[in-house]
Amino acid sequence: MRTLIAGNWKMNGLAADLAEIAALGRALATTPRTVDVLICPPATLVARAAAATIGISIAIGGQDCAPAAHGAFTGDVSAEMLRDAGATFVILGHSERRQYHKETDAMVRAKAQGVHRARLSAIICIGETKEQRDAGKAVGIVSRQLAAGVPDGSGPGNLVIAYEPVWAIGTGVVPSEDQIAQMHTLIRQGLVKRFGAEAAGVRILYGGSMKATNAAPILALPDVNGGLIGGASLKAADLLGIIAAAPQG
Ligand code: PGA
Repeated sequence: MRTLIAGNWKMNGLAADLAEIAALGRALATTPRTVDVLICPPATLVARAAAATIGISIAIGGQDCAPAAHGAFTGDVSAEMLRDAGATFVILGHSERRQYHKETDAMVRAKAQGVHRARLSAIICIGETKEQRDAGKAVGIVSRQLAAGVPDGSGPGNLVIAYEPVWAIGTGVVPSEDQIAQMHTLIRQGLVKRFGAEAAGVRILYGGSMKATNAAPILALPDVNGGLIGGASLKAADLLGIIAAAPQG
């Protein structure tokens, strides 16, 4: 399984910032590697980012999509539109969407069905809040989000899971290796139980305050198959440090 290093730019990035993707491409072109790299810029930049990465092995993705393919949904963007713009992945159910847009697991599942209908891969984000962890509910929350948010018909070709404890996102606080390993094992077991042995090939990313200086031990953990990176994905140099820390092979 190839490690996936995915950058989530969130609501950051103007045309001038495409230079970071170009710089990333130049650096990656000269280094043989077995790590997959994905950048998810804001929707306004998906098409230009995809055009800028033609012939460069950087995939481009969206950060959200509507469940429907088209219709009277002012302001929404469908998975088909993201595909048309050059995206191959779509992040879904990020904790910021769950918090600020009240997205439920059922909505995440419906969006993931849209992503699959458009023949793209869904990166479904799950993770507990600090309060939930402190109350001993982390395992239950993550299990429920996984079961309810992931649609039938998912597999290694169209699903990535990102375990992102909410308390680690943008805070500089990183869970212990034991805490990460426990959740990734739980997620793997849940996937295999539901989808069978082939779910061993679904990539499970860790996300939350990952940076070049802490990435290597996290990415070496069993069932950690990559990272979803926010802040440290905005500058090519920072993301290159994480890519260099990933196990090659
Ligand atoms: P962070 O964000 O790396 O800035 O903590 C991760 C994410 O929200 O995907």
